[in-house]
Amino acid sequence: MSEPTDAIEATRSQGSARPHGILLVDDEEAILESLELTLAEDYEVFTANNGRDGLAILEREDVSLVIVDQVMPEMSGVEFLEQVIERKPRTIRMMLTGYADVTSIVRAINDGRIYRYIQKPWEPDELRLDVKRALESFELSSENAQLADALAAANDKLRDENLYLRREVERQYAFDQIIGESPAMQRVFDVMEKVAQTDATVLIGGETGTGKDLVARAIHYSGPRKEARFVAQNCGALPDTLLESELFGHKRGAFTGAHADKKGLFEIADHGTIFLDEIGETEPGMQVRLLRVLQDGEIRPLGSSETRKVDVRVIAATNRDLRKAVDEGRFREDLYYRLRVVEVSLPSLRERPEDIPALAHHFLDLANERMNRELKGFTNAAMDLLCSCPWSGNVRELENEIERTVALAGDAEMVGVEMLSEHLRAAHDAVMAASIEIPREEDMNQAVDSLKRAMILRAIEETGSKTRAAERLGIPRQSLQKMMKRLEIE
Ligand SMILES: Nc1ncnc2c1ncn2[C@@H]1O[C@H](COP(=O)(O)OP(=O)(O)OP(=O)(O)O)[C@@H](O)[C@H]1O
Ligand SMILES: [Mg+2]
Repeated sequence: MSEPTDAIEATRSQGSARPHGILLVDDEEAILESLELTLAEDYEVFTANNGRDGLAILEREDVSLVIVDQVMPEMSGVEFLEQVIERKPRTIRMMLTGYADVTSIVRAINDGRIYRYIQKPWEPDELRLDVKRALESFELSSENAQLADALAAANDKLRDENLYLRREVERQYAFDQIIGESPAMQRVFDVMEKVAQTDATVLIGGETGTGKDLVARAIHYSGPRKEARFVAQNCGALPDTLLESELFGHKRGAFTGAHADKKGLFEIADHGTIFLDEIGETEPGMQVRLLRVLQDGEIRPLGSSETRKVDVRVIAATNRDLRKAVDEGRFREDLYYRLRVVEVSLPSLRERPEDIPALAHHFLDLANERMNRELKGFTNAAMDLLCSCPWSGNVRELENEIERTVALAGDAEMVGVEMLSEHLRAAHDAVMAASIEIPREEDMNQAVDSLKRAMILRAIEETGSKTRAAERLGIPRQSLQKMMKRLEIE
């Protein structure tokens, strides 16, 4: 993004280190000399006795301003200036004349488009000032031209960049970025794919962190509205009046602090999609207004008496049980039915542990890339632990866990159990403990011994060798042998 600005900066700082070139054309040598005397101190002065020589200099040299005599044999001053306009249109043109001939002044101004008309004899200081001003305006106009070019280039670049970012966003929210091999997620994809091509209102349900936001965006960016905007509003985050003004806009003066008209998100999302997150948190008044948009496609800004038509696709989400809210009279039934034309219900991560390995690797890849790390994967024990955690924060919690682990990984190659959060390991141990039947015997040593005996026997039976059994149990082979002797296992 910095290049266009750099170009503009460069243009601006291009100062006039070299003096401007001034071309004087007059058939009278004495006039040329005296003009040169007036200007030579501050500028690079070129002189010519006739128009033809003047034009040759104009082609050859860097000339910012010409001063030409009106009356010359062969080519007149006006004719000369016409040539200048044709060849170097931005050169500043001044004309000299010996007598105040109104017709020739008029002609010079109309045809020659001169900057200034200088009458002989001239006052040297006045002429110097005139030339200085003229050149300032020349500098400004060349700077403007360069700025305009730079701006046009910057605009082109921005347009390209905008298009690129749009494609990036589309790619980021494509269906294939949503991970889920489990049958429950496959059913979700089926519904999403069908519904993306339609304008049907969608209600997305699911616990926190299950991907409601992600799914809403994927539906928008995979459908015919993707060129228009996707806007999201969390309906639980704002008091009613503010939420109303966010969604529907307001007229100036509609309430204290409304200093100007403001467009609402429904208008901003025209032809696109609006995502109403946490729809279950809306107050009754807001529910009525939302029902009106869904039924008539009409909005009315706060403080306005007129309604406006909008063409907006609505996707809503909630982590509450809306059906229950309807039964309890906290949510309008008619609105509920309008919203759930299509319902997508995202399963919690607990209900689909088979998705955890793919998700974990997906987030590991993302974190590796973001943090410039090269962790190769997870140890079996770490993956087992990840797959058995309760994940009350669902995919978001898993994502955060992996990001944290990668950030703290140092130069480890694999993610091991010891790198995972303490609370996960604790939760895992608690789950494991709950699944062990606690023996009734009073003697703890005896109870522990019988558990050890059972575990060793099973490990040997399942692995077929003492070495592998010791490995599985996480103890050295010698310890296993000693333990077997003491427990009298043959
Ligand atoms: N199936 C998935 N595949 C890949 N990433 C996912 C998936 N589901 C969720 N995520 C990621 O998990 C994070 C949480 O998802 P998202 O914000 O969509 O959840 P949510 O349901 O809107 O949560 P909340 O109710 O708290 O708003 C995001 O970073 C999202 O990209
Ligand atoms: Mg969300």
